[in-house]
Amino acid sequence: MKTHDLMPFLTNLTEKAGEILTSYFNGKFTIERKDTSPLGVDIVTDADRASEEAILTEIRREFPGHDILTEETETVITGSEWLWIVDPLDGTVNFAHGFPHFCISIAVAQFNELVCGTIYDPLKKERFWAARDLGAYMNESRLKVSTAQRLNKSLVATGFPYDKAYSPINNVSEFSRVITKIQGIRRAGSAALDLAYVAAGRLDGFWELKLKPWDQAAGMLLVQEADGRVSDRFGSSMDYRSDNIVATNGAIHAELLEALTPAK
Ligand code: IPD
Ligand code: CA
Ligand code: CA
Repeated sequence: MKTHDLMPFLTNLTEKAGEILTSYFNGKFTIERKDTSPLGVDIVTDADRASEEAILTEIRREFPGHDILTEETETVITGSEWLWIVDPLDGTVNFAHGFPHFCISIAVAQFNELVCGTIYDPLKKERFWAARDLGAYMNESRLKVSTAQRLNKSLVATGFPYDKAYSPINNVSEFSRVITKIQGIRRAGSAALDLAYVAAGRLDGFWELKLKPWDQAAGMLLVQEADGRVSDRFGSSMDYRSDNIVATNGAIHAELLEALTPAK
Protein backbone atom coordinates (compact mmCIF):
# COMPACT_ATOMS: atom_id res chain seq x y z
CA MET A 1 0.00 0.00 0.00
CA LYS A 2 1.31 3.46 -0.89
CA THR A 3 0.95 6.09 1.80
CA HIS A 4 -0.90 8.59 -0.36
CA ASP A 5 -3.50 5.92 -1.19
CA LEU A 6 -4.67 6.36 2.40
CA MET A 7 -5.42 10.07 2.00
CA PRO A 8 -8.92 9.81 0.43
CA PHE A 9 -9.91 7.37 3.17
CA LEU A 10 -8.54 9.72 5.85
CA THR A 11 -10.40 12.64 4.29
CA ASN A 12 -13.74 10.79 4.30
CA LEU A 13 -13.16 9.47 7.79
CA THR A 14 -12.45 12.87 9.33
CA GLU A 15 -15.32 14.44 7.31
CA LYS A 16 -17.74 11.92 8.82
CA ALA A 17 -16.37 12.43 12.35
CA GLY A 18 -16.53 16.21 11.78
CA GLU A 19 -20.25 15.99 10.95
CA ILE A 20 -20.86 14.03 14.14
CA LEU A 21 -18.97 16.54 16.30
CA THR A 22 -20.69 19.51 14.67
CA SER A 23 -24.15 18.12 15.23
CA TYR A 24 -23.46 17.47 18.93
CA PHE A 25 -21.81 20.92 19.25
CA ASN A 26 -24.90 22.62 17.81
CA GLY A 27 -27.27 20.42 19.80
CA LYS A 28 -27.10 18.62 23.13
CA PHE A 29 -24.36 16.50 24.65
CA THR A 30 -23.55 14.99 28.02
CA ILE A 31 -20.31 15.55 29.94
CA GLU A 32 -18.69 12.97 32.20
CA ARG A 33 -15.63 13.21 34.44
CA LYS A 34 -12.72 10.95 33.53
CA ASP A 35 -10.56 11.42 36.63
CA THR A 36 -11.35 10.90 40.29
CA SER A 37 -9.16 13.73 41.62
CA PRO A 38 -10.83 16.53 43.64
CA LEU A 39 -10.29 19.07 40.82
CA GLY A 40 -11.98 16.74 38.30
CA VAL A 41 -11.07 18.68 35.15
CA ASP A 42 -10.48 15.73 32.80
CA ILE A 43 -13.76 15.13 30.99
CA VAL A 44 -15.26 13.23 28.10
CA THR A 45 -18.49 13.95 26.22
CA ASP A 46 -20.75 11.65 24.27
CA ALA A 47 -19.50 13.51 21.18
CA ASP A 48 -15.95 12.20 21.82
CA ARG A 49 -17.40 8.69 22.08
CA ALA A 50 -19.64 8.90 19.00
CA SER A 51 -16.82 10.33 16.88
CA GLU A 52 -14.48 7.59 18.05
CA GLU A 53 -16.98 4.82 17.39
CA ALA A 54 -17.56 6.01 13.82
CA ILE A 55 -13.80 6.24 13.19
CA LEU A 56 -12.99 2.81 14.65
CA THR A 57 -15.84 1.14 12.74
CA GLU A 58 -14.57 2.49 9.42
CA ILE A 59 -10.90 1.64 10.07
CA ARG A 60 -11.76 -1.89 11.20
CA ARG A 61 -13.96 -2.46 8.16
CA GLU A 62 -11.45 -1.12 5.62
CA PHE A 63 -8.23 -2.29 7.28
CA PRO A 64 -8.93 -5.35 9.44
CA GLY A 65 -5.76 -6.43 11.21
CA HIS A 66 -4.34 -2.92 11.55
CA ASP A 67 -3.72 -1.76 15.11
CA ILE A 68 -5.48 1.31 16.51
CA LEU A 69 -4.31 3.48 19.38
CA THR A 70 -7.14 5.77 20.43
CA GLU A 71 -8.01 7.96 23.40
CA GLU A 72 -11.35 6.74 24.70
CA THR A 73 -11.23 2.98 24.03
CA GLU A 74 -8.69 0.54 25.31
CA THR A 75 -7.36 -1.14 22.20
CA VAL A 76 -5.34 -4.29 21.89
CA ILE A 77 -2.04 -3.84 20.10
CA THR A 78 -1.38 -7.03 18.11
CA GLY A 79 1.94 -6.03 16.58
CA SER A 80 0.64 -5.16 13.11
CA GLU A 81 3.10 -3.11 11.03
CA TRP A 82 0.31 -0.51 10.68
CA LEU A 83 -0.86 1.66 13.57
CA TRP A 84 -3.67 4.22 13.44
CA ILE A 85 -3.34 6.92 16.11
CA VAL A 86 -6.67 8.58 16.78
CA ASP A 87 -7.91 11.55 18.78
CA PRO A 88 -11.64 11.65 18.02
CA LEU A 89 -12.00 15.12 19.58
CA ASP A 90 -8.99 17.21 20.48
CA GLY A 91 -10.13 20.21 22.50
CA THR A 92 -12.81 18.57 24.64
CA VAL A 93 -12.76 21.32 27.28
CA ASN A 94 -13.33 23.93 24.54
CA PHE A 95 -16.11 21.81 23.07
CA ALA A 96 -17.82 21.38 26.45
CA HIS A 97 -17.84 25.17 26.99
CA GLY A 98 -19.08 26.03 23.49
CA PHE A 99 -15.67 27.53 22.60
CA PRO A 100 -15.46 26.87 18.85
CA HIS A 101 -11.93 25.50 18.55
CA PHE A 102 -11.48 21.73 18.32
CA CYS A 103 -10.59 19.07 15.78
CA ILE A 104 -10.17 15.42 14.91
CA SER A 105 -6.60 14.18 14.62
CA ILE A 106 -5.63 10.90 12.94
CA ALA A 107 -2.15 9.69 12.01
CA VAL A 108 -0.94 6.45 10.49
CA ALA A 109 2.41 4.88 11.36
CA GLN A 110 4.12 1.99 9.61
CA PHE A 111 6.70 0.17 11.72
CA ASN A 112 6.31 3.07 14.17
CA GLU A 113 7.28 5.71 11.61
CA LEU A 114 4.62 8.31 10.90
CA VAL A 115 3.61 8.13 7.26
CA CYS A 116 0.54 10.35 6.98
CA GLY A 117 -1.95 12.28 9.04
CA THR A 118 -4.93 14.61 9.02
CA ILE A 119 -6.11 17.23 11.48
CA TYR A 120 -9.59 18.47 10.63
CA ASP A 121 -11.32 21.52 12.10
CA PRO A 122 -14.96 20.87 11.20
CA LEU A 123 -16.25 24.35 12.10
CA LYS A 124 -13.74 26.24 9.94
CA LYS A 125 -13.65 23.40 7.41
CA GLU A 126 -9.87 23.50 7.51
CA ARG A 127 -8.19 20.21 6.70
CA PHE A 128 -4.49 20.06 7.58
CA TRP A 129 -2.80 16.98 6.17
CA ALA A 130 0.63 15.64 5.45
CA ALA A 131 2.25 12.58 3.95
CA ARG A 132 5.88 11.65 4.55
CA ASP A 133 8.13 13.25 1.90
CA LEU A 134 5.10 14.63 0.03
CA GLY A 135 4.64 17.84 2.02
CA ALA A 136 2.05 19.41 4.28
CA TYR A 137 -1.17 21.07 3.11
CA MET A 138 -4.24 22.95 4.28
CA ASN A 139 -7.05 21.91 1.97
CA GLU A 140 -5.29 22.35 -1.41
CA SER A 141 -2.57 24.82 -0.34
CA ARG A 142 0.97 23.75 0.44
CA LEU A 143 2.09 24.73 3.93
CA LYS A 144 5.37 26.23 5.05
CA VAL A 145 6.40 27.33 8.52
CA SER A 146 6.83 31.03 9.36
CA THR A 147 9.97 33.09 8.89
CA ALA A 148 10.16 34.65 12.40
CA GLN A 149 13.78 34.77 13.51
CA ARG A 150 13.58 35.75 17.15
CA LEU A 151 11.41 34.86 20.13
CA ASN A 152 10.60 38.50 20.81
CA LYS A 153 8.91 38.64 17.39
CA SER A 154 7.16 35.29 17.82
CA LEU A 155 3.69 34.05 18.64
CA VAL A 156 3.91 30.70 20.41
CA ALA A 157 1.39 28.34 21.95
CA THR A 158 1.38 25.87 24.79
CA GLY A 159 -0.97 23.90 27.02
CA PHE A 160 -1.22 22.42 30.49
CA PRO A 161 -1.82 18.84 31.61
CA TYR A 162 -5.03 17.81 33.38
CA ASP A 163 -3.06 16.94 36.56
CA LYS A 164 -1.64 20.48 36.79
CA ALA A 165 -2.98 21.00 40.31
CA TYR A 166 -1.15 17.98 41.74
CA SER A 167 1.90 17.31 39.64
CA PRO A 168 5.07 19.40 39.77
CA ILE A 169 5.48 18.65 36.04
CA ASN A 170 2.72 21.04 35.09
CA ASN A 171 4.38 23.51 32.69
CA VAL A 172 3.83 26.46 35.04
CA SER A 173 7.51 27.29 35.57
CA GLU A 174 8.27 26.74 31.86
CA PHE A 175 5.37 29.06 30.99
CA SER A 176 6.57 31.77 33.36
CA ARG A 177 10.07 31.66 31.87
CA VAL A 178 8.91 31.88 28.26
CA ILE A 179 6.17 34.50 28.75
CA THR A 180 8.66 37.31 29.43
CA LYS A 181 10.63 36.61 26.26
CA ILE A 182 8.04 36.43 23.52
CA GLN A 183 5.78 38.72 21.57
CA GLY A 184 2.64 36.71 22.35
CA ILE A 185 1.50 33.41 23.77
CA ARG A 186 -1.74 31.45 23.24
CA ARG A 187 -3.34 28.59 25.14
CA ALA A 188 -6.07 27.79 22.64
CA GLY A 189 -6.92 24.32 24.01
CA SER A 190 -6.16 21.94 21.15
CA ALA A 191 -2.60 20.67 20.90
CA ALA A 192 -3.27 19.12 17.49
CA LEU A 193 -4.47 22.46 16.07
CA ASP A 194 -1.52 24.24 17.73
CA LEU A 195 0.83 21.96 15.80
CA ALA A 196 -1.14 22.39 12.58
CA TYR A 197 -0.92 26.18 13.05
CA VAL A 198 2.88 25.95 13.43
CA ALA A 199 2.96 24.06 10.12
CA ALA A 200 0.73 26.75 8.58
CA GLY A 201 2.93 29.61 9.83
CA ARG A 202 0.10 30.99 12.01
CA LEU A 203 2.20 30.23 15.08
CA ASP A 204 6.00 30.33 15.20
CA GLY A 205 6.34 27.67 17.87
CA PHE A 206 4.63 25.36 20.34
CA TRP A 207 5.66 23.26 23.31
CA GLU A 208 3.85 21.06 25.75
CA LEU A 209 4.62 18.41 28.39
CA LYS A 210 2.80 15.12 28.90
CA LEU A 211 0.98 14.97 25.60
CA LYS A 212 -0.23 11.58 24.44
CA PRO A 213 0.51 10.04 21.01
CA TRP A 214 -2.97 10.95 19.71
CA ASP A 215 -2.49 14.64 20.64
CA GLN A 216 0.74 15.05 18.70
CA ALA A 217 1.33 12.36 16.04
CA ALA A 218 -0.41 13.98 13.05
CA GLY A 219 0.75 17.46 14.07
CA MET A 220 4.41 16.41 14.35
CA LEU A 221 4.38 15.10 10.82
CA LEU A 222 2.69 18.29 9.58
CA VAL A 223 5.40 20.48 11.14
CA GLN A 224 8.20 18.30 9.75
CA GLU A 225 6.67 18.25 6.28
CA ALA A 226 6.22 22.06 6.38
CA ASP A 227 10.00 22.35 6.94
CA GLY A 228 9.75 23.05 10.65
CA ARG A 229 11.65 21.39 13.47
CA VAL A 230 10.34 18.99 16.12
CA SER A 231 12.36 17.82 19.12
CA ASP A 232 11.97 17.02 22.76
CA ARG A 233 12.50 19.86 25.25
CA PHE A 234 16.25 19.18 25.36
CA GLY A 235 16.66 19.37 21.58
CA SER A 236 16.96 15.63 21.02
CA SER A 237 15.00 13.82 18.37
CA MET A 238 11.76 12.26 19.55
CA ASP A 239 8.92 10.18 18.21
CA TYR A 240 5.16 10.38 18.64
CA ARG A 241 5.38 8.52 21.98
CA SER A 242 7.55 11.12 23.72
CA ASP A 243 5.94 12.96 26.63
CA ASN A 244 7.39 16.37 25.83
CA ILE A 245 7.52 18.23 22.55
CA VAL A 246 8.90 21.45 21.10
CA ALA A 247 7.86 22.28 17.54
CA THR A 248 8.88 25.45 15.76
CA ASN A 249 9.70 27.06 12.44
CA GLY A 250 13.32 25.98 13.06
CA ALA A 251 14.70 29.52 13.31
CA ILE A 252 13.48 30.10 16.88
CA HIS A 253 14.01 26.53 18.06
CA ALA A 254 17.26 27.03 20.00
CA GLU A 255 16.01 30.20 21.63
CA LEU A 256 12.76 28.53 22.72
CA LEU A 257 14.64 25.51 24.12
CA GLU A 258 16.89 27.86 26.08
CA ALA A 259 13.93 29.83 27.43
CA LEU A 260 12.30 26.60 28.63
CA THR A 261 15.38 25.54 30.58
CA PRO A 262 15.99 26.98 34.06
CA ALA A 263 19.10 29.18 34.31
CA LYS A 264 22.02 27.42 36.03
C1 IPD B 1 -6.01 18.10 25.27
C2 IPD B 1 -5.78 19.29 24.36
C3 IPD B 1 -5.11 20.41 25.13
C4 IPD B 1 -3.81 19.96 25.78
C5 IPD B 1 -4.06 18.76 26.67
C6 IPD B 1 -4.69 17.64 25.84
P1 IPD B 1 -8.16 16.59 24.71
O1 IPD B 1 -6.58 17.02 24.55
O2 IPD B 1 -4.97 18.95 23.27
O3 IPD B 1 -4.79 21.51 24.30
O4 IPD B 1 -3.28 21.02 26.53
O5 IPD B 1 -2.80 18.36 27.18
O6 IPD B 1 -4.92 16.52 26.68
O7 IPD B 1 -8.30 16.06 26.11
O8 IPD B 1 -8.98 17.78 24.46
O9 IPD B 1 -8.29 15.53 23.68
CA1 CA C 1 -6.18 15.39 22.75
CA1 CA D 1 -9.50 13.84 22.89
